[in-house]
Amino acid sequence: MKTILTGIRVNSEPTLGNFLGALLPMTRLANKYSKQGDIVNIFIPDLHTIISDVDGDITEGVIREIKYYLAAGLEPNENIHIYRQSYVPAHSELNWILNCVATMGETSRMIQYKEKSEGKDSCNVAIFDYPILMAADILLYDATYVPVGEDQFQHLELTRNLAERFNNKYGEVFVLPAKTADQAKFMETANAETAESEHVDADGRAVGIRIRDLQDPTKKMSKSSKAENSKIMMSDNPEAVAKKIMSAQTDSLGKISFDMFNQPGISNLLQIEALITGQPLQTVIGTWAGETHYGDLKKKVAESVSTFLGEFQAKVAEISDEEVLRLLEAGEKYANEVAGKKLLEVQKAVGLRK
Ligand code: TYM
Repeated sequence: MKTILTGIRVNSEPTLGNFLGALLPMTRLANKYSKQGDIVNIFIPDLHTIISDVDGDITEGVIREIKYYLAAGLEPNENIHIYRQSYVPAHSELNWILNCVATMGETSRMIQYKEKSEGKDSCNVAIFDYPILMAADILLYDATYVPVGEDQFQHLELTRNLAERFNNKYGEVFVLPAKTADQAKFMETANAETAESEHVDADGRAVGIRIRDLQDPTKKMSKSSKAENSKIMMSDNPEAVAKKIMSAQTDSLGKISFDMFNQPGISNLLQIEALITGQPLQTVIGTWAGETHYGDLKKKVAESVSTFLGEFQAKVAEISDEEVLRLLEAGEKYANEVAGKKLLEVQKAVGLRK
């Protein structure tokens, strides 16, 4: 029996990148593994959410996100636990204890921290501490697999390092999450039918999914991007989707092929098409091989995304707030029990409790 765990912040509505990179694969993994007896924890990192600006009401964002999982096909059962981070105080307690194990050097090397703090005279302390709270989220539940997008892989490595250092100093308390290459392979089982090349970089190393910014395909599609045309939101209507995809940045090579290095914009569109229609990436690449009209590809991707979002939004509208609140109540009871037990073990190990 293993534990699989992930979280998505609610600073704004999820983008198509969050959906294809995290929410949809996690839903598929949750259904598959919970049915074979594994534990699946899906939580809302609301404490991570308040680190940066929040669009709208956090509690409504939480309900919306859980509805998104349900609309994506999540089938709740006794092995799936859904909870809010701030409703389980052990997360922030363990965060502090891990702060005492983490070093300034390793935390300063986190790319996300560097990107978010760069050029700013002052940024909040929590941006720096972000990955250590993330480590606490994972280690409290002995999670082995943590399905996340590629941008979070460095934080998973840090989590492993902190767990190992803690265990060496205080005794075997934490289970180390799997190495990132194994995490990527595990995630592949969610997109079983997608091609391997999607998860392997130029050196043959396993990588996660990264949906690109439509205006700057060298970057990931990010909900914090200020440029509206750069990201597709899950509530976008067909007109907005068409406008954004038709104006996506491509290149001047005049051929449709999958090459993230030289043609990141076109490759991004091919990848979106594959993931959204559930086809193997190689099939989509084959369909477009030899074609030269970027406009035709954009039109097709816009249609696929619009159809998908229309159906998705209809499903979301059918789910009641009450259903979501019932799931949270049960999930938080479970999470407090499990996390409380682990925290006590940690407190004893470091000498805070007898
Ligand atoms: P957040 O909300 O920033 O991102 C949620 C998930 O979406 C993935 N993601 C993407 N995947 C593919 N393409 C993109 N363009 C893209 N943009 C975002 C992220 O990798 C992530 O998986 N730190 C986490 C939240 C968190 C967490 C945890 C996750 C807090 N504690 C413990 C797992 C375990 C984050 O990035 O959230």
